[in-house]
Amino acid sequence: MKTKKLLTGLVLGAAAALVLSACGGDKGKADDKKVESTNGPVELTISCGSVGQDAEMCKKLTEQWAAKTGNKVKMFAVPPNTSDILALFRQQFSAKSAELDVVMVDVVWPGMIKNDLVDLTQAAKDVQKDHFPAIIANNTIDGKLLAMPWFTDAGLLYYRKDLLEKYQAKVPTTWEELTATSQKIQDGERASGNKNMNGYVFQGKATESLTCNALEWVSSYKDGGTIIDKTGKITINNPQAAKALDMAAGWIGTISPQGVLNYGEEDARGVFQNGDAVFMRNWPYAWALVNGSDPKQASKVKGNVGIVPLPKAGADGSSTATLGGWQLGVSQYSKNQAAAIDLVLYLTSKEVQKQRAIEGAYNPTIPALYADADILTKNPFFKDLLQVFENAVARPSTATGEKYNEVSNAFWDSASSVISGKAKGAEALSKLEGDLDRVRQGEKW
Ligand code: GLC
Repeated sequence: MKTKKLLTGLVLGAAAALVLSACGGDKGKADDKKVESTNGPVELTISCGSVGQDAEMCKKLTEQWAAKTGNKVKMFAVPPNTSDILALFRQQFSAKSAELDVVMVDVVWPGMIKNDLVDLTQAAKDVQKDHFPAIIANNTIDGKLLAMPWFTDAGLLYYRKDLLEKYQAKVPTTWEELTATSQKIQDGERASGNKNMNGYVFQGKATESLTCNALEWVSSYKDGGTIIDKTGKITINNPQAAKALDMAAGWIGTISPQGVLNYGEEDARGVFQNGDAVFMRNWPYAWALVNGSDPKQASKVKGNVGIVPLPKAGADGSSTATLGGWQLGVSQYSKNQAAAIDLVLYLTSKEVQKQRAIEGAYNPTIPALYADADILTKNPFFKDLLQVFENAVARPSTATGEKYNEVSNAFWDSASSVISGKAKGAEALSKLEGDLDRVRQGEKW
């Protein structure tokens, strides 16, 4: 099993809390800090996501930095899919374009864009120890720290407390229970005129989001594995993994709408937030929005939502969350690297991560913040579900390095062919094994 004990060794408390980050903790420090530049103020361009509150919060925080330093920051808009963002960045990088200074880096990317990011080891020498060591290790390639951890992610199950209560159903801990409860409530609600009700929404679109969901299904089965193991061996062609995909195929058109085959994170959130689903799989960011009172976000389920680990498969399976998360890095081709590094250190600082956790439910990458009372009041699940974050399962990006995107693409295509009814699990996975073998070309990835 390629289980990454992300938060292993986590010490919630005094020692970590004493360590001050670049700009956090010691407020005066950030204020006093001016970026050294011989040419006066600079204008940076940052790309920082477009899911949920990503863009809005990023704008606000970069403006805070700009006001402190006298520099300017422009936002670079990106599409919602991580694989589309990667394609866009790769175009910019291969053209050695100086347009982007600071980029948001998915946890699965460092191996793929290692030659395009500035080494932050020296700049982050005082603060990298504040972050989860496993994320720092993930972001360090050939001894170079290529990006600073910004927030971490793990897949979670959101549920409607009011509906479960109405139908006297308990919170499911297995997929079987989730399926049965979804069906019961969906049928009951539809029969009483609530025609748009669905049992379960998740991310079924053939993109990186489906890789994350399908890894959770596969890995929740005993011996389902993690597609490719730590040593680089292809393990996905196994009967348990096939069962997992067939199980998910059984949801389409029963407890999940046909449309889920085209859902990303925001589509699922929209349906759930509109009150049209009993259960949803999503990342922590959705918590702030489903419980938000911002009229633009129009959550109809505020106060009625619970959050628990994803179900496991049967008695011998285990609940699995895919490890996600984002980092900030500086482009090699940036003409303003000193200022860009300063912005990265500011945005990933303890102070800013605290603000983002409170306002946006973004999971900090700094262990000390998991004991912060202000954060826990807003997001009690950070503490309740600490185990989920600790045991999140990594996608095989370290083992496959530069090939990860091709690997993931082959996996999401395969999973998509099963859930859309074009193939059975066993048949799709046997083909996938061959496809992955071709991507590998020989012994090494
Ligand atoms: C979230 C995760 C990221 C993952 C993406 C897939 O943004 O943090 O790691 O790749 O979802 O949609």
